[in-house]
Amino acid sequence: MSQKQDKNNLRDKDLMEEIAALCKRRGFVFSSSEIYGGFSAVYDYGPYGAELANNIKSAWWKAMVQENENIVGLDSSIFMHPKVWEASGHISGFSDPLAECKKCHTRVRVDHLLEEAGVFADEKMSEEEINKLLKENREKLKCPKCGDSDFSEAKEFNLLVQSNLGNFTGDWSKNPVYLRGETCQGIYVNFKNVLDSTRVKVPFGIAQIGKAFRNEITARQFIFRKREFEQMEMQFFVHSDEAMKSYEEWRERRWQFYIDLGIKKENLRWHKHENLVFYAKAAWDIEYKFPFGFKELEGVHYRADYDLKQHSKFSDKDLSYRDPQTNEKYIPHIVETSVGVDRTFLAVITDAITKEKLEDGSERTVMKFPKNLAPIKAAIFPLLKNKPELVKKAREIYENLKSQYMCEFDDNGNIGKRYRRQDEIGTPYCITVDFETLKDGTVTVRDRDTMKQERVKAEGLKTWLSEKLNS
Ligand code: GAP
Repeated sequence: MSQKQDKNNLRDKDLMEEIAALCKRRGFVFSSSEIYGGFSAVYDYGPYGAELANNIKSAWWKAMVQENENIVGLDSSIFMHPKVWEASGHISGFSDPLAECKKCHTRVRVDHLLEEAGVFADEKMSEEEINKLLKENREKLKCPKCGDSDFSEAKEFNLLVQSNLGNFTGDWSKNPVYLRGETCQGIYVNFKNVLDSTRVKVPFGIAQIGKAFRNEITARQFIFRKREFEQMEMQFFVHSDEAMKSYEEWRERRWQFYIDLGIKKENLRWHKHENLVFYAKAAWDIEYKFPFGFKELEGVHYRADYDLKQHSKFSDKDLSYRDPQTNEKYIPHIVETSVGVDRTFLAVITDAITKEKLEDGSERTVMKFPKNLAPIKAAIFPLLKNKPELVKKAREIYENLKSQYMCEFDDNGNIGKRYRRQDEIGTPYCITVDFETLKDGTVTVRDRDTMKQERVKAEGLKTWLSEKLNS
């Protein structure tokens, strides 16, 4: 039996540090270009991180595309015609408010500055509203670098990342292309293509997983706010009469997605946006209790007919829909569900990390991932490395299981060390081949969460594992 230590006993900062250290130590997350000193707000997923991220994406794709007859997938390009970003409003209005410390000239995001001072600023506030808050709370502000509290007025800073394409000889910054700031624009511009090439009828959705880029100014909170990140977005096209009902349904379904994923309910909550962008009719966030507090995990937005109307106007193409039954012609309204892979990753890691005091006084760190998300489903060990008959049998089992599941073969160190390593990467089952195996064909299977061991027939392991992993 083990005595559980509540991870919330760790101070928030300690928990964040613990998570970042484990992610590096066990190959989940590395700083980008680390040998060159890292690259601010850019991260790489290591071997186990890549598995976990893939499992998160598969779970989302299954819940959104595979299990919905009226949702289809898409994989649009990162580069798009620059006019897309004019139409979407990103060139004129996709920005964060920045203020400069008058003493040390550090530029700081004003909403973060206010937050540190205990003042809440909605990300969707206007420049004027932000500056009013800044003025009112001047004496509470503190520059993160020099501690001074004298700041310039806030100015909007565009978040789109620019690049160049083709054979440019001149100043390409005058004619830039952009790395997409959100994936949904690829969905809007393909609305007609999908409609014309498949059998979908309104109401229907288009879902996509892909990279997005933002020139985030403040690099902090680990992978929560990255400059290169991945979004999982679904745009649901509906008749305006049905839009609000559909919006409420999607709010419910997205909440349920996290519950089904195994995220603890007490770590989730809703946040309603009071300051909406002019075209939005409703916006709620699902927030997760990260080590630094409740923060946005997913946005569920009712965007009305803004996006298709804008792209229709800027491209001069008709993006309306004709109902085959009623013959009514209209621009569909859009309900959007938008979540980051990286934020889901951090939520899953935060939810899973557990420290336990064992009976012998030692401690273990165990990642209690939901089984379908665990990077490695089973680890197979020979009890001793120098006994060829044990190694041979363990290899046989590994070869047999690996076609169905991500498995690992490990004969390094002693069993205790192997268990500790697998606990830290969250492997649900460890299978050991010992001398009894050679006599009666059974192996020891150790459960990650209970640490209980049982003997299972090696022959029936595949079925046994399927039942356990799907239970
Ligand atoms: N299409 C709507 C849209 O992009 P958003 O609220 O800006 O809305 C949606 O972003 C989601 O994308 C967020 O809830 C978050 O999960 C993720 N996200 C946004 N910016 C991010 C960043 N810099 N790093 C990691 N994830 C981010």
